[in-house]
Amino acid sequence: MPDPRSTAHRFTSIDEIIEHLRALGQTLSVEDDALTELDHGLQTAAILAVSAPDDLGVQIAGLVHDLAHPWDGPGQPRHATMGAAAVVDVLGERVAALIRSHVPAKRYLVATRPEYADMLSADSVMTLAAQGGPMSPGEVAEFETYPDLVAAVLLRTADDGAKVPGAEVPGLNHWEATMHEVAATQAGAGASSGSVTT
Ligand SMILES: [Fe+2]
Repeated sequence: MPDPRSTAHRFTSIDEIIEHLRALGQTLSVEDDALTELDHGLQTAAILAVSAPDDLGVQIAGLVHDLAHPWDGPGQPRHATMGAAAVVDVLGERVAALIRSHVPAKRYLVATRPEYADMLSADSVMTLAAQGGPMSPGEVAEFETYPDLVAAVLLRTADDGAKVPGAEVPGLNHWEATMHEVAATQAGAGASSGSVTT
């Protein structure tokens, strides 16, 4: 049994990722204990299916963006990088970079959109401090060079809206074929979509 807090967890197949997501259906969300971690991922993906209907990669990034929550500690400072590292071999660099981006994207939006901070959940405001607080102007300028900035912002806003207890959304089975499609597309793409280092 691997150490669940291991920073070196790397999935080797979609089946392994799905098995982990299914287990998250028994894990209360760290952001809202009225829903599970799986509910939160499914709601994020469902929102992105509407806001980014042609971008299967960002939809799958939404599904799995918080899968490392059980491995991280209070304030969740490392879950984005841990999650990206865990799925990169299966889902590719673009999805991994989007997962890495979802914490800096919150710091970016807090710094650049005054109305954004007002709509964050209480838990999200609390973790913001542990995650570095609002970006500095220099960090904002650097983040805006990220070639997938538009998708990163869509992922973040979907994430923030995906906390509705009891929301009816497609289940995990709905996403299995899409995961395979994204994995197949990414397999030959290499690390061409830039990275997020913040
Ligand atoms: Fe999330």
